[in-house]
Amino acid sequence: MAFNLKGRSLLTLKDYSLEEIRFLLDISHEVKRERRAGVVEQRFHGKTLALLFEKRSTRTRCAFETAFGEEGGHPVFLSTADIQLGAKESVEDTARVLGRMFDAIQFRGFKQETVEILARYSGVPVYNGLTDLYHPTQVLADLMTVEEAFGHLKGIKMVYAGDGRNNMANSLMIGCAKMGVHYTIAAPRELWPDEELVRGCRTYGVQSGAEIQVSADPAAAVKGAHVIYTDVWASMGEEAKLQERIRLLTPFQVNETLMGQTGLAETVFLHCLPAVKGQEVTADVIDGPRSRAWDEAENRKHTIKAVMLATI
Ligand code: CP
Ligand code: NVA
Repeated sequence: MAFNLKGRSLLTLKDYSLEEIRFLLDISHEVKRERRAGVVEQRFHGKTLALLFEKRSTRTRCAFETAFGEEGGHPVFLSTADIQLGAKESVEDTARVLGRMFDAIQFRGFKQETVEILARYSGVPVYNGLTDLYHPTQVLADLMTVEEAFGHLKGIKMVYAGDGRNNMANSLMIGCAKMGVHYTIAAPRELWPDEELVRGCRTYGVQSGAEIQVSADPAAAVKGAHVIYTDVWASMGEEAKLQERIRLLTPFQVNETLMGQTGLAETVFLHCLPAVKGQEVTADVIDGPRSRAWDEAENRKHTIKAVMLATI
């Protein structure tokens, strides 16, 4: 069944139903097949996309630029060194102006509130390319990669080991809960997720069948896990906390021992990247045969293209 998502923003996956996420994933697989077959379409011909970045990016920026450009669209990269965005001009006014010139806007930065204001005042679809709170386009690529590995999502068990309250831990919890993927955060108590978010995700799980858990015991948490996921110990903007994070998170490192404790031969490893090898994950795991991190990175482009095709 096709859904009409035209004009919709993607600020958090909370705003999308299981069926709508399913629809976006189906388009993602389709555009990946097209790309593999060398099909060249021009579905964004004559369209423009503003790419606003307060924080650095490799994958997200390149995924948006290449996905939009290869379909004939014109992406414009704007960092905070280029535009005002809350400096001399309010975010509201920036949004009003960009909305008159662009067909869609991507924002990566600190506050979730900024991307929400952009959506409210621009009148065009706005995509959250990462805030301190959420990273929804990443989760679409993660779900796509899990489907490629196992052929389905429902009933898969994913364990996220690491900083349990960062944008990735939060967004994965929402995406998994919506799609029927059992999700456990393994983290020290100091870094457990917001309780209200956990409660909300458990509510989604009632409908989808997903069980959402939080544990301080990584070895017990990973038993039976099909997917082990991790992310950096200090996210962008939190670099000053690194020493404390190393102290708290060293027992949660993803290494061959933890991978072996799932008890399953088919367990795969995922990481949104960039990775700090030797901290949250060892090189033998991320560069080894169970790692799907590179497929996952490629899938950023296909899923982001799918989101833009569905909403522009
Ligand atoms: N995963 C991800 O968002 O990567 P970038 O920070 O390179 O965009
Ligand atoms: N949690 C990381 C994700 C990077 C894609 C950060 O915010 O830096």
